[in-house]
Amino acid sequence: MKVIEHTIDDGRHLASLYNERFADGSDPHCHPVTEQEFAVGLTQTLRHDSPMSAVGVHALRLLAVERAGKPVALSHIATEAVTTDGRDTRRGLIRLFAFAPGDRAAGQCLLEASEARLMSDPVEKIVLAPWSAGVRFMHSGREEPSTLQPHLLSLARLNRYAVERTQHIMTCERIGVDKPALRDRSMNVDVEARESRGRRPNVVTRLMRDGTGIGSCELESRGHFLQAEAAQTAVFVHDLEVHEAFQRSGHGRYLLRRALWEARRVGFTNASLCVLPDNHRAIMLYAAEGFSIAGTGHQLGKEVD
Ligand SMILES: CC(C)(COP(=O)(O)OP(=O)(O)OC[C@H]1O[C@@H](n2cnc3c(N)ncnc32)[C@H](O)[C@@H]1OP(=O)(O)O)[C@@H](O)C(=O)NCCC(=O)NCCS
Repeated sequence: MKVIEHTIDDGRHLASLYNERFADGSDPHCHPVTEQEFAVGLTQTLRHDSPMSAVGVHALRLLAVERAGKPVALSHIATEAVTTDGRDTRRGLIRLFAFAPGDRAAGQCLLEASEARLMSDPVEKIVLAPWSAGVRFMHSGREEPSTLQPHLLSLARLNRYAVERTQHIMTCERIGVDKPALRDRSMNVDVEARESRGRRPNVVTRLMRDGTGIGSCELESRGHFLQAEAAQTAVFVHDLEVHEAFQRSGHGRYLLRRALWEARRVGFTNASLCVLPDNHRAIMLYAAEGFSIAGTGHQLGKEVD
């Protein structure tokens, strides 16, 4: 086995390895990327077309493990400047990590090579799947070491990475809501279809009373970052929020239903989202509205001596 280091541009052909590992159907919401989407997606931030350096992430490199000249495992590494307790330090990031479930040797070789490369400039810590620097062409951008990729999660744990953050990935396979009735007539709803690069728009739904915002729900088209056909009918619930003073009165349910109904109306058929495991109120709501937990994803970290 041999480890090859690529710049993002030189390594764009590795998109096919990403597709094999993440868009093969094992995670129903990861869609295939083109080489262009792969290269651009790795250098730009999760939601916007701004460079990763804008959020303090630098030195982007792709590492590939090759066996008999064929790439069999892939990682994307970077460093991030962070300030902890008023002190400036650097963290090493492994933003993307892929190897076949049956090929632990390639996974181990890649992890060791990624760590060594990151430690060649001093870093205090290595973070795998950092939430601060998610990869935008993945389904939620962040959930790579998840129960959907158990071999990756296990490799990280075997190498002493500790779970730092956890989120559930919830999916609704078929949006089938009726238009909800607005019971309180003093309220009004504003629905904004924002242009996306996909075939369908991003949809922002706001609930208001006398011009004051009560809450909002933001849906993002997966087609915004991916040309794949299946991504054109998939939305990600990026945000659902009801202001504190107005919670527990049915507004959250109304907003979610209305947003999904609007999405269905313009042709989206399925939805996904991420939620913290202790956000029981939100999980109750999503579960009641047709979502179920598809997997649980983690950010993992390891201190470096
Ligand atoms: C999650 C959130 C949007 C729910 O909005 P809400 O207006 O308070 O919720 P609703 O009044 O519409 O209630 C909908 C469902 O939520 C659940 N829920 C609401 N209040 C609850 C409570 N106090 N305890 C347990 N479950 C509760 C119930 O399932 C409820 O359905 P039910 O009334 O049939 O029992 C709101 O709490 C919020 O903005 N939280 C902060 C932001 C957030 O966490 N967003 C989700 C990110 S993934």
